[in-house]
Amino acid sequence: MAGDARTKILVSFGTRPEAIKMFPVIKALTKFSQFDVKVAVTAQHREMLDQVLEVAKITPDIDLDLMLHGQSLDALAARILTEFGQVLDAQRPDRVLVHGDTLTTSMVAQACYFRQISVGHVEAGLRSGDNYAPWPEEVNRKIVSTIADLHFAPTKAAAEALQQENVPDDRIHVTGNTVVDALLATRKALHSTPSLAPQIAQLAKLHQNKRIIAVTAHRRENLGQGMRNIAAALKLISARDDVAIIYPLHPNPQVSEIMRHGLADAFNVSLIEPLDYPAFVALLELAYIVLTDSGGVQEEAPSLGKPVLVMRDTTERPEGIDAGTARLVGTDPADIVQATTRLLDDRAAYAAMSKAHNPYGDGNAAMRIAQIIADIG
Ligand code: UD1
Ligand code: UDP
Repeated sequence: MAGDARTKILVSFGTRPEAIKMFPVIKALTKFSQFDVKVAVTAQHREMLDQVLEVAKITPDIDLDLMLHGQSLDALAARILTEFGQVLDAQRPDRVLVHGDTLTTSMVAQACYFRQISVGHVEAGLRSGDNYAPWPEEVNRKIVSTIADLHFAPTKAAAEALQQENVPDDRIHVTGNTVVDALLATRKALHSTPSLAPQIAQLAKLHQNKRIIAVTAHRRENLGQGMRNIAAALKLISARDDVAIIYPLHPNPQVSEIMRHGLADAFNVSLIEPLDYPAFVALLELAYIVLTDSGGVQEEAPSLGKPVLVMRDTTERPEGIDAGTARLVGTDPADIVQATTRLLDDRAAYAAMSKAHNPYGDGNAAMRIAQIIADIG
């Protein structure tokens, strides 16, 4: 539109977790008439991204469709950088919003930097202190922190990490994590419309009278031996007849092949396709314990009061551990089995880890982010 004085905001993302955490931001931004909001996805993930877009009813304005099976980090990074650069040249946004720590996040920020376009970083300031865990996410975050001029830190600790890296105070805003917005809205929808998650209702029936252990795992630093260890631990746990494991597999063949092979003859295990977001939230609600190496799941489970055993050696999300609902157990099968068995057999240990906390937010993070951008102009 000629003479359009609105601020042009381009929201970009590429993977499932970014989409889950950005859809509340898109919805909040569109409530402000002074913004012209467009959505550009790299589609670094395809099917898992589309699951979220469909549920959130978001149709991207630009879809680069960049997922290729087996592409290297270099190839993916190069394609995002060049193709997103062309999007920026065509769209000429005033601001770009990126989320979190993926290659999409760092390369979109880099393409913005080359054009001196303002970058707002949602979920800024998470640090594990180890460049190789999570890998390559720790360095992706640092790249974006160097480039961004608006940093939306989910927690006080994340804001402090940015201050320690000399990010000016007036560019850091503690907003809460938008994953809590997505989780609470989805849980509300599920409670009013239980038919939103039919596959979980079926699985609950199949595993009646068993305690459900929900599992997810996909981290690059766990590919290979880490995944084989996790499969071995799950097989041992599944030998108990009072539990059932429900595990939506990440479609990366380096994850799914190891798990299908390692758990081929395990009892009480449902290896299933990735769930859409409402179904996964329903699974979290059904679960007695959550075993994961995912970032987002570490943030969601404490809000639901579900004990989370984190199959990593370190985390950039210490708040769940400090709150007592999450525990780092690494990927040694003996450690995973021991920690799980304790939660299953020791009521006091379970009770201590199963109190609901919201260390990551109150469900209003997205509106805070939109308001901050509106105030800045
Ligand atoms: C990516 C992000 C990671 C994030 C994770 C969330 C990078 C380097 N990694 O990791 O930070 O935590 O997403 O899940 O940015 N695949 C499909 N369909 C899909 C998605 C993936 O088939 O919808 C398969 C493809 O073969 C793809 C592979 O999984 O090549 C790996 O995908 P990729 O985006 O490179 O890395 P992730 O391990 O998913
Ligand atoms: N999730 C989902 N379906 C599934 C498994 C996970 O919708 O089958 C959601 C989960 O609720 C969380 C997000 O996906 O919000 C986590 O994504 P992932 O584990 O892929 O990435 P990470 O959080 O580790 O970056």
